Amino acid sequence: MDRIVITGGNPLRGTVRVSGAKNAALPILASTILGGGECVITNLPRVVDVVTMVKLLGLLGVAVKAEGSRAAISAETVRSTEAPYELVKTMRASVLVLGPLVSRWGEAAVSLPGGCAIGTRPVNLHLAGLAKLGAEVTIEHGYIRAKAKRLRGARIYLDTPTVTGTENLMMAACLAEGTTVIENAAREPEVVDLAAFLIKRGARITGAGSDLITVEGVPALRGADHEVIPDRIEAGTFLAAGAITGGDVCVEGCLPNHMEAVSMKLREAGFDVTEGKESIRLKASRRPKGVDMKTFAYPGFPTDMQAQMMALMCVAEGTSVITETVFESRFIHVPELRRMGADIKVEGSHAVVNGTEKITGAPVMASDLRASAGLIVAGLAAEGETEVSRVYHLDRGYERIEEKLGGLGAVIRRVRGGAGSAVTVAT
Ligand code: UD1
Repeated sequence: MDRIVITGGNPLRGTVRVSGAKNAALPILASTILGGGECVITNLPRVVDVVTMVKLLGLLGVAVKAEGSRAAISAETVRSTEAPYELVKTMRASVLVLGPLVSRWGEAAVSLPGGCAIGTRPVNLHLAGLAKLGAEVTIEHGYIRAKAKRLRGARIYLDTPTVTGTENLMMAACLAEGTTVIENAAREPEVVDLAAFLIKRGARITGAGSDLITVEGVPALRGADHEVIPDRIEAGTFLAAGAITGGDVCVEGCLPNHMEAVSMKLREAGFDVTEGKESIRLKASRRPKGVDMKTFAYPGFPTDMQAQMMALMCVAEGTSVITETVFESRFIHVPELRRMGADIKVEGSHAVVNGTEKITGAPVMASDLRASAGLIVAGLAAEGETEVSRVYHLDRGYERIEEKLGGLGAVIRRVRGGAGSAVTVAT
């Protein structure tokens, strides 16, 4: 298992480019199942989750030619309609093939994702929505099985604006007979990007980006080309890294309007954040001020930025209260940050962070993707060396993060293999 070793204390300076958004790439790749014709997807991030989705498409019999950040995909036929446990257990977002498979091929068997480090993460709303569209949905032997001759449009109300649930149902509705209305839909930019791709393919979707999405079913979708939107969470992570090190960082290739909640919190904390058309620059001239944050569905403050901003608050002047409303146990990074000298108390869904002037490097363990990013951000500011283990979580969603941070002047390297068999490969 690889580790990332950081020597903290260097102010980050310079320009860094963001990759495509993992959370847009995954549903877009899954949606290629919905129709024939060649789809060329570009700006795919080179991260493990994308590799897993490509592998899953291959298993299903979809022809995928992937090279670098581009994939040419033809889903003329399928060999299988089953997403096996071995893959789903490594990536919950595999459930995104459920809607497309049942919609186009009339059946799907997808291993039911289990709980994960950040919460129970049920998929009940995906399943209830598909049942509303006329699918017969059962759970047998650990698999979700869904069947339908042809789905029928329906009105679906989501109790929670689930992101992948909205995407699954929007995809399924594309080929359904009649009109589907999804109420209380997720408004994330990644949902909008998926809709944009589906519309290019001939789908009739309106309202993506609002909480009411309408899909008029069509008989078939054609091929189309699409460039995935930039990753707003990766961009936000670089801003947090610049901020915590007292640096001056320009993040290029991002869409500032997707990042308003994060930019606003950084400004409130005392940083100078300026937006270009496709870039954001953060300049730090002082220690951050403690600010309160509460995670919400988009356009609220993203839960996927909570750990990175908590790391920043660890060295702030004053106290900040961070409230997590999206996932029930997304504070697993807290004990690790405490090992670095942070003063954080957790009470239910609130974390009270009393900023300290300095934190110190320590061996810490990553528990999920964004927690890993939070620990890296903390390590960049900590005195001495921080060693983050279990970085396979990080590799699921960040492309060459050590190289990108290294380019900004961070002293960071990846150490391959387990303790004792260290081979340094990047700085
Ligand atoms: C997506 C993102 C993830 C992000 C999350 C919230 C992808 C691949 N992943 O995950 O990075 O952290 O959105 O922004 O896009 N819920 C239910 N029933 C369901 C579905 C969800 O109760 O059927 C609840 C969840 O437990 C959670 C909340 O809804 O409390 C939001 O989760 P959801 O939006 O579904 O997260 P994901 O789509 O899994």
